[in-house]
Amino acid sequence: MKRISFFTIILSGLIACTSQPKQANDPDARDQAKIDSLISQMTLDEKIGMLHGNSKFTSAGVERLGIPELHMSDGPHGVREEISRDSWAAAGWTNDSCTYFPTGTALAATWNPELAKQGGTALGEEARWRGKDVLLGPGINIMRTPLNGRNFEYMGEDPYLVSQMCVPLIQGIQSGDVAACIKHYLGNNQETDRGTVNVEMSERALREIYLPGFKAAVEKGGVYTVMGAYNKFRGLWCCENPYLMTDILREEMNFKGLVMSDWAAVHTTTESAQAGLDLEMGTDSAYNRYYFADKLLKAVQEGKVSEEVINEKVRHILWVMLKTKTMDSLRAKGSFTTPEHSQAAYNVAKESIVLLKNDNQLLPIHLENVKTIAVIGDNATRKHAAGGNSSGLKTKYEITQLAGLQNRLGNSVTLNVVQGYAKESELTWDKGLIVKEDKARQAKLRKEAVQVAAKSDVAIVFAGINHDYDVEGYDRPDMNLPYGQEELIQEVAKVNPRTIVVFTAGSPLDLSRINDQVPAMLWAWYNGSEGGNALADVLLGKVNPSGKMPFTIPVSLSDSPAHALGNFPGKELTVKYEEDILVGYRWYDTKNIKPLYPFGHGLSYATFEYADVQTNKAEYRQDETIKVQVKIKNTGNVDGAETVQLYVSDPECSVVRPAKELKAFKKVFLKSGEEQVIELNVNVSDLGFWNEGRQKFDVEPGKFDLHVSASAGDIRLSKEIMVR
Ligand code: BGC
Repeated sequence: MKRISFFTIILSGLIACTSQPKQANDPDARDQAKIDSLISQMTLDEKIGMLHGNSKFTSAGVERLGIPELHMSDGPHGVREEISRDSWAAAGWTNDSCTYFPTGTALAATWNPELAKQGGTALGEEARWRGKDVLLGPGINIMRTPLNGRNFEYMGEDPYLVSQMCVPLIQGIQSGDVAACIKHYLGNNQETDRGTVNVEMSERALREIYLPGFKAAVEKGGVYTVMGAYNKFRGLWCCENPYLMTDILREEMNFKGLVMSDWAAVHTTTESAQAGLDLEMGTDSAYNRYYFADKLLKAVQEGKVSEEVINEKVRHILWVMLKTKTMDSLRAKGSFTTPEHSQAAYNVAKESIVLLKNDNQLLPIHLENVKTIAVIGDNATRKHAAGGNSSGLKTKYEITQLAGLQNRLGNSVTLNVVQGYAKESELTWDKGLIVKEDKARQAKLRKEAVQVAAKSDVAIVFAGINHDYDVEGYDRPDMNLPYGQEELIQEVAKVNPRTIVVFTAGSPLDLSRINDQVPAMLWAWYNGSEGGNALADVLLGKVNPSGKMPFTIPVSLSDSPAHALGNFPGKELTVKYEEDILVGYRWYDTKNIKPLYPFGHGLSYATFEYADVQTNKAEYRQDETIKVQVKIKNTGNVDGAETVQLYVSDPECSVVRPAKELKAFKKVFLKSGEEQVIELNVNVSDLGFWNEGRQKFDVEPGKFDLHVSASAGDIRLSKEIMVR
């Protein structure tokens, strides 16, 4: 008999001690072991069952192994009404009326990542309470054109702002044991022909403009799921695009989670499977006829797709299930429409509202000398939650802009409510926007409104658009204010010098013909359940506005990059992003086109003084961080908040660079008279450009200018530094 030495016993004990606790202590290893074990017990049929929808918003589990169905829901700014399993009809639940949170552009306009976390946490809790595993949001496509129907769902035109806001939002959502789903990956920047259009952009535009938000979501936000877009990217559908789904997402970003298709965005079986898509959703056929159902099974049987590829897909889904504790009794239960959720919606709304202009400090409204306010316009009473298509919500409540004023004013002031203009549009899913203009009716409503405005102390026009225009599936025909609102606003302003215009919209409007005629203008977004209350608080000065525009408002549509170059919506189903990296303010600044309101613009009832900008050094190495300090003082009579923005220019570079780019920002809250030194940090490595030749980011040594600014159009202090 072979003798086992004492040494061998000790050694094997040691090995056992080091290997066992490793798995016990390392959650990743434990998860992988569990996933391996589950996969090893599954039949091929069961695996394939997990890779395609088995209802409108679920994919199958494997009951005998304790793997549940995966439940998904739109998204992004609330948990959508429950849909029937097999049709788009409402399921008829009576307990699915959610909290409506401000939409993406509104959230971005707060420039406050803590609020994104707060709103996201509330959203995640609501999704969990409703039994969801994946909330289909946030949407973070870059605003390339003012006309994109879905701009309101997204977070504006700047990749840095998008990244800073989506990371805490994702972390908030996922803290509730529910996965966020970043969408739409990639280049779904227009709704026109979204299902067929081919997007051509340079690698540089991809890396500098369209990818950073997704990269931040994966690498910093730890997002669990990604949704592939409808369109083609460089000739291949996004959902069968190995460059996007495998090379970039898996290999470069090390994404471990699940890639699902947008609803009915899959066109092939083998190509999509090989390219890296995990889950097919929403295809318009019987579930077994999905590309990832019987056809995928056949492809495996015929050896076109290996079972290892299938296992990988299952692995990604199970990984998300473990991360969200789907099979764990300790999973968070969530909560629904709580006072805390309303408060979170209010907090976002109140910091999102942008004061565009405020001549003679017309705002806030001082009630001492106001007995009557004319309330004019369809948006005063319109509820928006249900609109927009897939992001539309059945909400527990939505405070309209009029209701907000009524709530806050009680009987102290007489509100003279008058329609002013009528919504003359209708949106149909098949034909899109239908506008039936009736000039005579417009004139009559206008006349009435002008009379009421003339005899009121203050006139507020609740203007803008609605979800007939800001909507999934269709881009806007133009940037104009519809329904004769321009004339209405002009005439009201003529008879009442205290005219305030409030815009509800999620994308830029042409304000060029009213801007000079109106003393005060606010941008109020689609601002969630508490939107009306937040707006009233801003109008009445209980809240000092602190929102800043997440996009530029150009003077006219033809000033904007894609339109100036005739690159929207493309030709013969191809759209070439010829403006390249010059998107949003990068274009206007570089081309010296003065916008009406620049990116990052937003006033306050206070004023802020910027002084003493300093950097910690004058010269930096490539691996260092630039620390910029600046003193900000509230020189106004009221407490307020300022978002200090740091833009950087690279004046000497071998390639064209935007005149300046946002690289840091900080929102600082200051009491009247208070001053604070704030610090903004920028890694030198983030100052680079995508070098097409070397296929990497490069920072060319030389001088860089740092601009401490109140908006992209309002540089307050500059400082030069050198990079070695
Ligand atoms: C939209 C997605 C949405 C999905 C499910 C699609 O039409 O593009 O954003 O999540 O439908 O409703």
